[in-house]
Amino acid sequence: MKNSIILSFFTVLLLILFNSCQHETTPPVIDTAALNDTVYFYDEVLPIIQSNCALADCHGGNDDPDLTTYSSIKKLVKAGDPQNSRLYTTAIGNEMPPAPKALLNLEQVTSIYAWIRQGALENAEPCDTSLYTFNADILPIFKRNCLGCHNTGSANGEITNYNQIATKAATILGRITAQSGSIMPPSPANSLSGCKITKFTNWIKAGKLNN
Ligand code: HEC
Repeated sequence: MKNSIILSFFTVLLLILFNSCQHETTPPVIDTAALNDTVYFYDEVLPIIQSNCALADCHGGNDDPDLTTYSSIKKLVKAGDPQNSRLYTTAIGNEMPPAPKALLNLEQVTSIYAWIRQGALENAEPCDTSLYTFNADILPIFKRNCLGCHNTGSANGEITNYNQIATKAATILGRITAQSGSIMPPSPANSLSGCKITKFTNWIKAGKLNN
């Protein structure tokens, strides 16, 4: 009797320990209708990975696998075949990033899936410095490149909407151009391209409109 009580106690303890680093949500289901738009490695996939996985305490370059460059990420991918690509299966399988970090959301997982399906190319979105309306051109840059670390409630400072971006535009410009403070995004592999920085500068010069 005593033994069985002790045994149940340890069983429960083991279950608690085992479950504490697992996510409780079910894996997201890919919406195949969202797969037609080209997904760009440098504009979508790398920023998602940099913000959520290539952090100093995870895959910052010293740990295996490295998730900081195209060639290292490509090793985790079978071009055209997401279901046989570790990059996708670990994300969809609720494994990565481990708790307490949040899992990738459906939009992010769909981007990774679509990019692999489209051949896992080393591609970047064409960029036009003359296009700098806030909602179509500026906000997406922040959503893709900054939100992973600057989302609502983040201790690093929120950069999620027009008011926040307009209010600290000068600080942001200083960071993304490495003129003041540490460069943002922090990983050199993922600094904003000159074209994106020019778009942002043009938007500031034109009066930071919410258009
Ligand atoms: C991988 C995580 C990460 C990403 C991605 C990232 N940041 Fe940061 N950011 C941080 C951390 C951590 C701090 C706080 C430490 C510091 O100030 O350097 C910070 C601080 C800042 C600050 C100063 C604090 C504030 O709110 O005034 C600004 C501005 C900033 N980041 C802008 C950006 C912009 C713009 C992007 C996207 C283009 C970006 N960051 C992407 C991690 C990140």
